[in-house]
Amino acid sequence: MSDPAAAVLAIDQGTTSTRGLRLAADGSATVRHAVTHAQHYPKPDWVEHDPADLLRSIDACLEAAGPVRAVALDNQGESCLAWDAETLEPLSPVVVWQDSRTQSVVDALKRDGAEAEVMRRSGLPLDSYFSASKLAWLYQTVPDAARLHARGRLRLGTTDAFFLHRLTGRCVTDATTASRTSLMNIETLAWDPDLCRLFGVPLEALPPIVPTTGDFGTLMTEHGPVPVVTSIVDQQAALYGHGCRVAGDAKITFGTGAFALMVTGDSPLRAPERGLSPTVAWHRDGEAPQYAIDGAVFCASAAVNWARDLGLFRSFDEINAFEGPSAVERGLVFVPALTGLACPHWVRKARGAWLGLSLETTAADMVRAVLEGVAFRAAEVLEAMGSLRPTGDTVSVDGGLTANPYFVQFLACALDRRIVVPAGAEVTALGAARLAAEHVGLTIPARDTPVMVEPPAIPGSGGVRFQKAVSIVADWP
Ligand code: G3P
Repeated sequence: MSDPAAAVLAIDQGTTSTRGLRLAADGSATVRHAVTHAQHYPKPDWVEHDPADLLRSIDACLEAAGPVRAVALDNQGESCLAWDAETLEPLSPVVVWQDSRTQSVVDALKRDGAEAEVMRRSGLPLDSYFSASKLAWLYQTVPDAARLHARGRLRLGTTDAFFLHRLTGRCVTDATTASRTSLMNIETLAWDPDLCRLFGVPLEALPPIVPTTGDFGTLMTEHGPVPVVTSIVDQQAALYGHGCRVAGDAKITFGTGAFALMVTGDSPLRAPERGLSPTVAWHRDGEAPQYAIDGAVFCASAAVNWARDLGLFRSFDEINAFEGPSAVERGLVFVPALTGLACPHWVRKARGAWLGLSLETTAADMVRAVLEGVAFRAAEVLEAMGSLRPTGDTVSVDGGLTANPYFVQFLACALDRRIVVPAGAEVTALGAARLAAEHVGLTIPARDTPVMVEPPAIPGSGGVRFQKAVSIVADWP
């Protein structure tokens, strides 16, 4: 009989939900618990989560898991907070990766000419998306921060370190998460004192950086003690979950934003002129770190949900199929720059736009253009990646939008590549679970066959029109 504890639990703590996935020895993966949490928008450009909400969600996933051999935790990347190392109580809300309250600080650093040095050290462009300026803001605004820091009690870090500190008592962050802060040196995988000084973040308050797999402490569960053996950013977990292992393997996750990652091997590939940033893909304990190149589109599902909230459609079933030629072929384009343009442009002030509206344009046309615009933005990122290193003729995709057949077919057309859609939806949690299973020596077979979507024989011709629209939006005063 198979051992019921020969399973691992992955807790995928993302921007909108927390999901507990149990991966059993036979390869079956079951979501044991999934729960959404509140998004707080206290001011324009501010996005916050309540740390207590996130901790409750994680606890509920642990309770629902049953007996497991090990636990993996993946996190929402750049989102960060301050907490007290003695009481383990949060001293701030979680400032979410989407939050751009610190953009003016970052712009001032740009004007002072700091970007080249930040890129050289961290690999990342200057943008409020990354944690550094948020952590500096927390240090400046959390009541008593300086006094707590003087007593060695202040902790500033990404959500993973807070969760681990609370759950197991180990206050550490893994190299993939640290690579999203702009404070880690991308070559040495250590906190960079010059970057900490530049942003105004006290290095001593940051959690030590450790590999992605290893000893993250022990959880006490109703079934006994269970080790946490993996901690990783959700996008990197998805990369692993897609089976991307060698240079050139790429995935795009279409969640709130669209996040493309391509494995580049054991050294960081730099391409600032392409708007792409090196990031740590995973770092197995005792092995060389593996790197990826990363390109983000800030608004993907967020743009589609916005179109629904505007009343352009009511139910997602309405936007699975459309009649006749695409919107772009009929001259209608939407640029989904609702919160700025990220890779490869990095123009925060850019805003979204439909171009080509006429008296004949219907609400369905407008939504169709939104879906196409997200696909075109992903194509821009992948093209930038492909110019660095061949990306192969397939791209693996996941996330809510990949359930939309029109979107996936249009994406294959925009990318001019075969699209692979994994059979199970939980690619992120699966990636974290696989890393954990491998770490504890469990061999778990893959079970389900992915779906392939072929590009049309003749790719569509809307790309040039979309590029023109993007340049208008990027230069918009
Ligand atoms: O960079 C932010 C990204 O890691 C968030 O992903 O899936 O939590 O929206 P998700």
